[in-house]
Amino acid sequence: MTTMSSAAALLVLVVVFVASPLLVSSQLAPTMAPTMAPSMAPTAAQTATNNSRLEKAYVALQALKRAITDDPKKLTENWCGPDVCSYRGVYCATAPDDPCARTVASVDLNHGDLAGTLPEELGLLSDLAVFHLNSNRFCGALPDSLRSLHLLHEIDVSNNQLSGTFPSQLLCLPNVQYVDIRFNNFCGEVPKAVFEKKIDALFINNNHFEFTLPENFSNSTASVIVLANLPRLGGCLPSSIGDMAGTLNELVLLNSGISSCIPPEIGKLDKLTVLDLSFNSIAGKLPDTIGNMRALEQLNIAHNMLAGDIPESICALPHLKNFTYSHNYFCGEPHRCLQVPRIDDRQNCIAGRPDQRSGEQCIEFMHRPPVHCDAHGCFAAPSPPPPAYAPPPPVY
Ligand SMILES: *[C@@H]1O[C@H](CO)[C@@H](O)[C@H](O)[C@H]1NC(C)=O
Ligand SMILES: *[C@@H]1O[C@H](CO)[C@@H](O)[C@H](O)[C@H]1NC(C)=O
Ligand SMILES: *[C@@H]1O[C@H](CO)[C@@H](O)[C@H](O)[C@H]1NC(C)=O
Ligand SMILES: *[C@@H]1O[C@H](CO)[C@@H](O)[C@H](O)[C@H]1NC(C)=O
Repeated sequence: MTTMSSAAALLVLVVVFVASPLLVSSQLAPTMAPTMAPSMAPTAAQTATNNSRLEKAYVALQALKRAITDDPKKLTENWCGPDVCSYRGVYCATAPDDPCARTVASVDLNHGDLAGTLPEELGLLSDLAVFHLNSNRFCGALPDSLRSLHLLHEIDVSNNQLSGTFPSQLLCLPNVQYVDIRFNNFCGEVPKAVFEKKIDALFINNNHFEFTLPENFSNSTASVIVLANLPRLGGCLPSSIGDMAGTLNELVLLNSGISSCIPPEIGKLDKLTVLDLSFNSIAGKLPDTIGNMRALEQLNIAHNMLAGDIPESICALPHLKNFTYSHNYFCGEPHRCLQVPRIDDRQNCIAGRPDQRSGEQCIEFMHRPPVHCDAHGCFAAPSPPPPAYAPPPPVY
């Protein structure tokens, strides 16, 4: 993160990190699988010497310890001997398939500042439900052996220096619900299958993926999708986006190279509370169907090429708290919008409002060729009429 220096990158970071506690509080509080129930005697006394699961865990954890090259906080200092359940950051519980066996259910080394690599032996933690390694300095690839962690429910390896292609082994995990690989150096293509996987939360932002939002995007059943700051991402918001209405709560597609219009079908997302489409090249008008998104609290469409009027129905949304539409080419804003608890309408072409674009910029924009929303292949319906522009505001 220290390598990110531009103001825009910083802003993106702030937004994403501000967004994440919100996401976590809404539904992503670490959901401890049933395996995490406090274990009782006699399992409490088991160690790697008399329990084969803990023996395998011992091999895995010792391999991890050997692969760690720097441990400034001495997190793994007590990782010695057969009692793996007493290792710092390692949590044991009764095995789901054997009430008499103790097993490693969770490894949590968040904010450890550990440097090193992740060894294949981690696949021996076969009952692992929760794997948290965020904010360390692990590099290299995620071990392929993770595909054998059939109980894995949550994996958070965000904010490391992991590289290689998209870790497709995670898509083989039958029980994974929370996948957070953001802020790493993963590159290459994001498999379309990501969006076909039954998963609750997906964070892949701030990597080096080459990615175009596929039509399959709408097949996702996730409640939270964050694809922000994937600068090479491209493409359009498919009109099938409305198909995610049953499940989608938060959608962040910030700085994701989207260059289409916003399909009116987006209005079907009536459970969505957070929509962030900022820092893209989204053109056309803001569909008034957004006024049907009754749960919406945070709406950010700043830094795009949107024009026309802000539909009044949006500003009338009952829960809307924060509506950011600065740095577009809007020319009209209903009075109602000024009653939303927080708005940002700067750098548009709205007559009579402070801090707008110059008259020259607004006139230049007006003379650009009209936007044909169907030209992006995102729409099945015929193109809406070209946007009508109000006279430019006076030059201040
Ligand atoms: C397992 O081995 C440990 C020593 O490693 C011992 O303290 C414990 O009592 C043993 N537990 C059982 C159930 O045999
Ligand atoms: C994505 O959608 C296409 C088009 O419907 C479909 O043919 C394909 O199987 C889907 N991809 C995956 C990985 O399911
Ligand atoms: C996945 O998406 C494609 C394209 O939108 C669609 O044709 C297909 O039916 C979807 N598959 C499922 C399983 O929903
Ligand atoms: C409102 O949204 C903007 C853009 O997402 C964000 O920068 C700002 O912090 C938000 N303000 C409040 C009070 O939530």
